[in-house]
Amino acid sequence: MVMTYKNYVNGNWVASDSGKIFSSLNPADESIVGHFQASTRADVRHAIASASTAFSSWRDTPAPSRAKYLWKMRDLLIKNKERLACLIVLEMGKVIAEARGDVQEAIDVFEYMAGEGRRLFGNTTPSELKDKFAMTVRMPVGVVGLITPWNFPIAIPAWKSAAALICGNSIVWKPSSDTPLCAVEFAKLIDEAGFPKGVFNMVTGSGWEIGDEIVRHQMIRGISFTGSRETGEHILRNAGVKKIGLELGGKNAIIILEDADLDLAVDGVVWGAFGTTGQRCTSASRVIVHEKIKSLFEKKLLARVKNLKVGEGIHHDIGPLINLKAVEKSARYVQIGLDEGAKLLFGGKPLNVHGKGFFFQPTIFTDCKSEMRICQDEIFGPVLSIIPVKSFDEAIRVSNSVSYGLSSAIYTADIQKAFRAINKLEAGLTYVNSSTIGSECHLPFGGVKGTGNGMREAGIHGIDEFSEIKTVYFDYSGKLQKATIDD
Ligand code: UN1
Repeated sequence: MVMTYKNYVNGNWVASDSGKIFSSLNPADESIVGHFQASTRADVRHAIASASTAFSSWRDTPAPSRAKYLWKMRDLLIKNKERLACLIVLEMGKVIAEARGDVQEAIDVFEYMAGEGRRLFGNTTPSELKDKFAMTVRMPVGVVGLITPWNFPIAIPAWKSAAALICGNSIVWKPSSDTPLCAVEFAKLIDEAGFPKGVFNMVTGSGWEIGDEIVRHQMIRGISFTGSRETGEHILRNAGVKKIGLELGGKNAIIILEDADLDLAVDGVVWGAFGTTGQRCTSASRVIVHEKIKSLFEKKLLARVKNLKVGEGIHHDIGPLINLKAVEKSARYVQIGLDEGAKLLFGGKPLNVHGKGFFFQPTIFTDCKSEMRICQDEIFGPVLSIIPVKSFDEAIRVSNSVSYGLSSAIYTADIQKAFRAINKLEAGLTYVNSSTIGSECHLPFGGVKGTGNGMREAGIHGIDEFSEIKTVYFDYSGKLQKATIDD
């Protein structure tokens, strides 16, 4: 029996005012996973009011005490890891090993951010004047809106909410409409962890209605969004003066120089391009390979890709895409690639595994030119473009030729070239002799150029996103001292 799930507002499970629902599908067989509230702007306003009331006591709860709730959440995520991983396979479609990794990222970040409860460091520094003390302290931002994607349905909400909560913010969360059941289960664990009522609120529904209400609402002081550039630009245009963190995707490349360990590079390309069916912001969608080793690299890559098994995520190497639109997008880009004159080396078609489901063959184009749309646009599917180059400098130029700047990778045995690449690649992340995916929760994550607006998630920089710095001058001289004024 398919259940209907509610919003989580002020510690209660409540139905939307709209009386309407929407469904979430299993992308592997198109069966209905659950029904969810198609919420209205009024539902969001209730959630914001509840978060706003809860904020005043949550901000006054000492951070080490706030941390105890985060640690409880970490324990619950550990206890529920396998159940949540199976749910991710069911609703989002990624393969089980990666689904476990998705939950593990959430465990790691709650653990890390709980530790931050005993740090949340500011700075102290000398004053220009005698008997005066100068320091910075961290304050919460206020009520923050979290808008999260479906591709990491547990990990990304965890990155954002753990950092927001430890800093003393209260939350209104709009999860992706492709993975609302994962969101409901996440909210249930938050509830079980015992966070005070109203500190964490979740409302399901359409981005253009409830997401937009979060973006525009005066009482929302900060927004953290991961998703498409189109939505990111909408947020920047409509949010007004708020603290905004954006992560808007990538067109990430793996550079393979002629001295690279080719088997290692092939491992990295298969993992980066076809892991998560190419649906990570950090997925490798371009390989920039030195022309001298191109044909050997392609031979090794094809041998591997031919053996990848596509199907539902428990028993296969590559799961489905998230929905029909994603299948249509990958198919459209295959046609664009063919029209642009790229050579199709493998795949290129939707796969009908059991008559149902959103499957697509792992797809490889070669002899691509950097300016082709398949080498410039984010496809978010298992479509890889190989671009041959003649030199290291050309490889860097090609890697940097896109409007995005999230992840990058280089395979080489040459230390000088590796360090030059670290210096020259326009990306928030550079991996040496490793693929473009696989960030760790205590290091910052985010991109440059069209990927973001300078904010980083995770690690100490995740704290920056969800706190405001207050500068404090404490004068204990007992007289009026004037900074910057000549005696
Ligand atoms: C994303 O796709 O938005 O490093 C995040 C990685 C993952 C995070 C990806 N840990 O690939």
